[in-house]
Amino acid sequence: NDNPRILAIETSCDETAAAVVEGGKNIISNVVASQMDIHRRFGGVVPEVASRHHVENMTAVIEEALVSADMDYKDLDAIAVTEGPGLVGALLVGVNTAKALAYAHNLPLLPVHHIAGHIHAAELVGNMAYPAMALVVSGGHTSLIYLPEEGKYETIGETRDDAVGEAYDKVARTLELPYPGGPEIDRLAAEGEVSIDFPRAWLENGSYDFSFSGLKSAVLNAVHNAEQRGEKLVPENVAASFQASVVDVLVERAERAASEYEVKQLIVTGGVAANRALREAMRHSFPSDGEVELIIPPLSLCTDNAAMIGAAANIAWKKGERAGYDLNGEPGLAL
Ligand code: KG4
Ligand code: ZN
Repeated sequence: NDNPRILAIETSCDETAAAVVEGGKNIISNVVASQMDIHRRFGGVVPEVASRHHVENMTAVIEEALVSADMDYKDLDAIAVTEGPGLVGALLVGVNTAKALAYAHNLPLLPVHHIAGHIHAAELVGNMAYPAMALVVSGGHTSLIYLPEEGKYETIGETRDDAVGEAYDKVARTLELPYPGGPEIDRLAAEGEVSIDFPRAWLENGSYDFSFSGLKSAVLNAVHNAEQRGEKLVPENVAASFQASVVDVLVERAERAASEYEVKQLIVTGGVAANRALREAMRHSFPSDGEVELIIPPLSLCTDNAAMIGAAANIAWKKGERAGYDLNGEPGLAL
């Protein structure tokens, strides 16, 4: 069967998600229950709280995904689930649910890597072509991944300290903005000017790695030093200057990687790919009449969701990879 209907489940962080995807391409249904409002009170994701909310919401989210797909278990060919990486307690809820459903309905179980999921979100909006390069930018990850062919992943660069989304969230906290900070900084920066020259961590020649902790500290120091002088920096300008520094580095790395590896496509995905300045800068660097095709999934497929897990699961399906009933959540799973 080349067009399997897969029920996909994702619970690696703070979104409880289920989707039905056909042939790794067509979204039949896509349901996400966000816990954002709950975690906002704590200023970040509290793992224990996330797990408990997954337990509460999981069944209803799956039910909704099936009802809106107008399907029952007999219409499905497989169950897919995020195996890792992520918060262990959160992963366990999805993994255990998927195993129980696969067992009860005698369906094959497909294990999916969360980052492979983010990358294959591209398949839901375009046709992936290889070799490809993916820039995955989220609250937990900042990675450049080379895909020589379907199902093969080589991480050529990653962050040595903070993930880019983490830097956004920390800078937002310094500016006393609510969690998650990314969208807040995005909004503020649009009204500001790049008036402060924050550092750009280029690292050693030729490196594809990233580092954002120096930039984060520079923003913190600038804000605090101004306070000590009895001044207040214009938050819009701090946001715009910080964002300019981030975007410069991400675009430089993506351009260099795409040209050195002679890829056909560049995929930019993960929560931070929702950022307007980043999207615009990438579109400018990779114009539609250029050699490298740029795919940036729409916002709802960039942030955590289960449709992307269904898309990536199709590769396991084709290869005949199946998980056993001993499948476990793997918080540090390698790609
Ligand atoms: O992919 P995601 O939903 O969850 C993880 O797997 O981490 O990414 C969440 C991250 C958060 O750090 C959030 O602040 C950031 O993505 N983010 C943004 C924007 N929207 C979300 N960062 C910058 N600009 C945005 N518009
Ligand atoms: Zn994610």
